[in-house]
Amino acid sequence: MIGMFDSGVGGLTVLRSIRQYLPSADILYFGDIKNAPYGSKSREELSVLLVAGLKVLHERGAEKIVSACNSVSASLAISLFDALEIAPAHLIEMVGPTVAALRDSPERIAVCATPATIRSGIYADAFRMVGKEIQNIAIEGLAGAIEFGAPEAEIKKHIEGAFTGKSDFDLLVLGCTHYPLAIEAFGTVLPDVKIFDPAEAVAIRARRQFWPQEVGDARTHFLISKESQRFRDLTSSLFPNQKYTVEVLE
Ligand code: DGL
Repeated sequence: MIGMFDSGVGGLTVLRSIRQYLPSADILYFGDIKNAPYGSKSREELSVLLVAGLKVLHERGAEKIVSACNSVSASLAISLFDALEIAPAHLIEMVGPTVAALRDSPERIAVCATPATIRSGIYADAFRMVGKEIQNIAIEGLAGAIEFGAPEAEIKKHIEGAFTGKSDFDLLVLGCTHYPLAIEAFGTVLPDVKIFDPAEAVAIRARRQFWPQEVGDARTHFLISKESQRFRDLTSSLFPNQKYTVEVLE
């Protein structure tokens, strides 16, 4: 079984792609809504939440992990094998597959993400390793606004605010898994920029690393750490023809 992890609804955008590449895998998804949003938290806080979240998945039998949350990627550098016996080959995070997919891209790249992801420097470092300098753009408050279903105008305001005066890039990486849920607003604010959603690159990596071991019965079970009608509504609109179960962790 594959365990997926995010602060809330963001990882659903990654799950949507994973379902295309691993249709029969059994998936357990944990959305830590009680502690969302993650993107304004410190690295120390995120490391604690990450290990707690992975422990939930591990105890329920997930042997493979897709961390569908960029904000915790820097914390994954801790030895998860020592903490939870998760082997590196059994773990996929967002940054590596994204940078690998864009390493030969001729475009000038910008990455937008939560303040926690940008502050960690993880995208800038990873792109530098393949010889690319990128622009880093933190968007304050956007992931939380998406998580809790803020009105369209508020979502647009967050995006406009972050991009004012920034124009010298042709390709924008959505370095937060919540952001593809606002992809239309990004398109309106930045009509001439190519927008890159890392979900597919991560799903391709998941298939490469986890198939054929992860052939199952196509079960999807969602665990959420707090009741959320928004989570339930989004899951039913993103996965209209799929059977799944939702459980609220007390
Ligand atoms: N979706 C997560 C990410 O990719 C977390 C966003 C948040 O909770 O602030 O960073």
